[in-house]
Amino acid sequence: MLETDFCGLKMKNPTVLASGVMGCNAALLKRVAREGAGAVTMKSIGPKEKEGHKNPTVLEWEHGLINAVGLPTAGYKNAEKEFKELEKCKSPVIASIYGSSIEEFTEVAEGIIGFEPAMIEINISCPNTKREGQIFGTSPEVAAEVVKAVAEVCGKIPIMPKLTPQANNIAAVAAACEQAGANAICAINTLGPGMVIDADARKPVLANKFGGVSGPAIKPIALRCVYQIYEAVSVPILGLGGISNGRDAIEMAMAGATAIGVGSATFYRGIEAFKLISDEMKTWMKEQGVKSIKEIVGAAHD
Ligand SMILES: Cc1cc2nc3c(=O)[nH]c(=O)nc-3n(C[C@H](O)[C@H](O)[C@H](O)COP(=O)(O)O)c2cc1C
Repeated sequence: MLETDFCGLKMKNPTVLASGVMGCNAALLKRVAREGAGAVTMKSIGPKEKEGHKNPTVLEWEHGLINAVGLPTAGYKNAEKEFKELEKCKSPVIASIYGSSIEEFTEVAEGIIGFEPAMIEINISCPNTKREGQIFGTSPEVAAEVVKAVAEVCGKIPIMPKLTPQANNIAAVAAACEQAGANAICAINTLGPGMVIDADARKPVLANKFGGVSGPAIKPIALRCVYQIYEAVSVPILGLGGISNGRDAIEMAMAGATAIGVGSATFYRGIEAFKLISDEMKTWMKEQGVKSIKEIVGAAHD
């Protein structure tokens, strides 16, 4: 009923652990897979060892989370042990990479392809230091340049840029990425930057002051982005942003997502989130007489 083929990744259900949320090491990622995730995404790996922002870095507010973790990474040169441990993972493992220049993206991709992840997610929601900090994914041309460069080094491993909702025209960014060689599109990363202020303390709560907003608050934006991307590309979409229950996941599939990412919901529902969401999807499908999840992908389109 929920079996999904996403770009050749065989998944028992369409749920995917989102990058950076919960699974920040191999042991946790393996546990999330055992607990029911159809696939798991590693925390984004960068070019060299980097500390993240100071605590507090993640905060729950009324309608979701806000985070300024700051992409801490051990760097691709120190990633071998984690990849080796993940060989026994029960679900396909998606590696996630980032860089601050096109050269850094290709350097990291080259550094990890030998570990043969099932797929490489390219986090283009980070700033390009060569263009005054402009987010790579806000420009179709720059996003396509990154994808083209990474595609050249990745060979047969499918690649999937992860888009930012900050783009003026996310459909145009997705189409440019497809043209440049993307095998799938992932949308969306966190929205923002946003800010939460503690009235009693009279100051921002995050040490970094500003952070990316995720969880239920961004679901309508994520659905709109996936809906527009579906109309612009023919490659499959991993849709995420505010998916907390089976009904949300069904809505995301109807917008056009073949695979469905779950991030912040693991804060509210725990590691069981993937199993709970899958069960809730099945219940809805049985009630509606839907036999396979494939039947409803894109169903909300005219
Ligand atoms: C604490 C935290 C850390 C994150 N780290 C990453 C990361 O390393 N790489 C990345 O591409 N996205 C990262 N994200 C974004 C999520 O993968 C996801 O795109 C976003 O949270 C929206 O999904 P959600 O509403 O289900 O959480 C992070 C999000 C959170 C909340």
